Amino acid sequence: MARRLEDNLHHDNSPSVRTTMSDDRTIVDAFSRLTGHAPDGLWRAPGRVNLIGEHTDYNDGFVLPFAIPQAATVAAAPRADGRWRVRSLDLAETGEVGPDQLVPLTHGWQSYVFGVLWALRHDGFLPGGVDLVLSSDVPIGAGLSSSAAIECAVLAACADLFGLDIAPLRRAQLARLAENEYVGAPTGLMDQAASTLCVAGHALLLDCRSCESRQVSLDLDRAGLHVLVIDTKTKHSHVSGEYAARRASCDKACEILGVAALRDVTDLGVLSALPPLEARRVRHVVTENARVLQTVDALDRHDFDTVGALMTASHASMRDDYEITEPSVDLAVETALRHGAVGARMTGGGFGGCVLALVPDDRMAGLDRAVTEAFQAAGYATPETFDAVPSAGAHRVESLRLW
Ligand code: GLA
Repeated sequence: MARRLEDNLHHDNSPSVRTTMSDDRTIVDAFSRLTGHAPDGLWRAPGRVNLIGEHTDYNDGFVLPFAIPQAATVAAAPRADGRWRVRSLDLAETGEVGPDQLVPLTHGWQSYVFGVLWALRHDGFLPGGVDLVLSSDVPIGAGLSSSAAIECAVLAACADLFGLDIAPLRRAQLARLAENEYVGAPTGLMDQAASTLCVAGHALLLDCRSCESRQVSLDLDRAGLHVLVIDTKTKHSHVSGEYAARRASCDKACEILGVAALRDVTDLGVLSALPPLEARRVRHVVTENARVLQTVDALDRHDFDTVGALMTASHASMRDDYEITEPSVDLAVETALRHGAVGARMTGGGFGGCVLALVPDDRMAGLDRAVTEAFQAAGYATPETFDAVPSAGAHRVESLRLW
């Protein structure tokens, strides 16, 4: 798998949320400096956490992500010459292509932008030229889908600017196409679906086979709970290869079992037909799919104790069967559970990144402190934490009178 933007860029992993008018003003001003005129608008698409359902999306299974407040924001306007130019405020770099210069796997961070143009053309849409200025506060390399946020913001901007009639699910699929084919990362649909389809206050139940989805109410306030994100600042250096290896194991198991996808396996009795490694991988996928549906059921009943228990079971499955956790991630989970979390698990592709802890209001400060101290004692980098508030998916930023 090609290295992702997350792996390529240096970033301070700032968890601060940039959604203020003054930050938007900075993007608009930068756009005016770049082009000599105001943008037609601003579009925003969020990063995500996954409450539960890991490595199930590419197995035609179920996922339950929600969008976070951190997002990629783009200012954009059409240009007459058909060319695409993008400036990243965060990197202070600008790139430009014409429609005949779209070559997959060649553009570094700009692939997340030009890949969207490529995907749109692949689907028969012919957007014109566009100028874009981009800034994002989704922490990079933390497993929070900073790349999907960029793709989905650019896609939302293009759809509006050129009046492209693309349904939300198709937008997510096109953004995934950009990620898979142009960037070269063989991911599933979860991240782009979350960034596009999520609704504030809800998690998104997505059936990755039928692509049907349902908004599941996640009223954390009413329950007196928080989903605390603990960014461990750990990143396994072979993450891309490991992700592809997990996919390959699943493919091999499907072949042995004679099924189209691991979604088709529900009876753990089949594990005896598999070599030990594939048996562990399959057990994770099968039990994880079941946990997603049980979590939705528990959320519908406002039974957060069960949600927490399922999160913790999911972590054990990722640690022992899918083997995608890291010691620092396990330490964050164990420490959170010891200091009042109702449940805790790693979120995202794995091999580092972030842990989610479901934490009662009155345990937040103590738990936060305990994790920091545990990391210090173990000699790990200082983790960063933030409250994951279920937020809106990709949208045009309205009510701005900035230009
Ligand atoms: C990454 C991928 C997703 C999904 C998760 C694991 O975030 O982009 O498609 O496979 O890993 O659940």
